[in-house]
Amino acid sequence: MSLVATYYNPVQIYYGVGTLASLAEIVQTSGNQVLMLTGARSLKASGYLDKILQQLQSFEVFVQDNIPSNPDVADILHLKKATGNLAYDVILAVGGGSVIDAAKALAAFRNLNFQDVNEVRAVIQNKSYAVNPSICPVIAVPTTAGTGSEVTPWATIWDQEAEQKYSFEAPAIFPKAAIVDPVLTQKLSSTMTASSALDALGHAVEAYWSKNSNEIVRLYACEAISKITRNLNLLLENPSDLSLRTEITYGSLYAGLAFSNTKTTACHSISYPLTLQFGISHGVAVSMTLGAMLVKNEAALIEKEKLLAALGIKHTSELTAWIHAVYDQAGLPKRLRDYGVTETDLPVIADKSYTPGRMDNNPVEVDKSFLVSLLEAIY
Ligand SMILES: [Fe+2]
Repeated sequence: MSLVATYYNPVQIYYGVGTLASLAEIVQTSGNQVLMLTGARSLKASGYLDKILQQLQSFEVFVQDNIPSNPDVADILHLKKATGNLAYDVILAVGGGSVIDAAKALAAFRNLNFQDVNEVRAVIQNKSYAVNPSICPVIAVPTTAGTGSEVTPWATIWDQEAEQKYSFEAPAIFPKAAIVDPVLTQKLSSTMTASSALDALGHAVEAYWSKNSNEIVRLYACEAISKITRNLNLLLENPSDLSLRTEITYGSLYAGLAFSNTKTTACHSISYPLTLQFGISHGVAVSMTLGAMLVKNEAALIEKEKLLAALGIKHTSELTAWIHAVYDQAGLPKRLRDYGVTETDLPVIADKSYTPGRMDNNPVEVDKSFLVSLLEAIY
């Protein structure tokens, strides 16, 4: 661990119930031509797409309302081709982590031309996007409470064909602004509410124990963890309670601020093959190993009692039971076999779990025999 502690986050955060009403004012600071990205269904169904377009009546707005979950290099190529001729000053991303990540990719790849997916892969791998002079600002408006992508300098792009997950990152990829309005999360299903909050819990807990952690990170992490563990069960019982939605939304935001300076660790690293090969939703895939990794990392925890107090437990072994209770409340299966994983898949998953920059950011080394036994325990 470095002796110099540092913390940096340049995102202008607008937050609170009703913040969305200031959207036009906030967008205005970046220009008049707006490329808006959103998913195919939920924003329209909630009525917020119409409300947002009404607010932006005086702007020239190009809408791409077809951003898929877990965007792939092929999706990014398609998006580049669909938007290549548009002149826009700013990208407005209204959605979950997938939409915000797609917006970061389009911003970072602005004015770069791609003929095929190999060219997309090459730009991600050679990091030429990091010095792209044409990069444009992103304004992120999360509609889930979990991703944290509104305050991080990286994005995840998947590659089904090559069975890979890419994370591209650069300071220029921090959104210019985030508009965090808990009202936008009110219509989330219980499975989305639970899995996205558990993703946020993973961000906070992993930031806390990361090799890159420091005092500021742990302050944000503990506050995030407390908000999530004190309020998630209540929210799942009372899904329309706006004050509980607000607590979970802020928990997710604080978790984002925590891990924006550390990156994630073992649980996220193990989650990637689970999502890529078996379609396990990100928050579930991350949280399946969170309890076991808390036990594994126990000896390396700085101020362990603070973390346990935030989690609301006395011993590291108790976290798994709380996570399982959340799965039960939301109707989410608990075990790998429930998602089509077979026993012979476990060593293959273990081999694919070592993402550089993530697994080696865990405070304790995770060797393959431990990892296989961990996967067997949740199989
Ligand atoms: Fe995550």
